[in-house]
Amino acid sequence: MFRWFYISASRLVDDEADEVVCDIVNVSVARNRALGVTGALLFTGRNFAQYLEGPPRGVDQLRQSICLDMRHENIRTIAEGEYSHRRFVTWSLAYLPPPQLLSSRAEELLIAAEHDGEANVEALAQFLCEMTVKGRG
Ligand SMILES: Cc1cc2nc3c(=O)[nH]c(=O)nc-3n(C[C@H](O)[C@H](O)[C@H](O)COP(=O)(O)O)c2cc1C
Repeated sequence: MFRWFYISASRLVDDEADEVVCDIVNVSVARNRALGVTGALLFTGRNFAQYLEGPPRGVDQLRQSICLDMRHENIRTIAEGEYSHRRFVTWSLAYLPPPQLLSSRAEELLIAAEHDGEANVEALAQFLCEMTVKGRG
């Protein structure tokens, strides 16, 4: 089991963002499943956080596509490598047009995860877990 956890800055403009994120998820469900990869995507309106886990080759293939994707920029890895267990059993998306509070909480967690070490990375992963339960359709 391998994981890649990153934060990036959205390049989407407000009025198209919902639709584009839906497109991303639709493509991702099929492709991630085919590669045996699970995970979660959080979109705060400004930033993305995404946790991907699965066989190293699958995660790496996705990583290559995602890193070339012009819909976001400034991709920063906050955790990567071997990991003991799967955290997300199904691919789901934590995208609900987020209430303001949720969005600012998410932004705080993103900043902490980037700058303040491993405990905050795990806190962000846990937040994604909680969000995906709510976001599961
Ligand atoms: C923030 C973000 C997250 C993405 N996550 C995934 C993903 O988990 N799985 C996936 O197949 N594509 C994901 N994509 C889309 C890929 O970058 C890519 O467009 C898609 O996989 C099609 O790949 P291809 O252009 O190499 O054919 C994501 C894109 C963005 C901007």
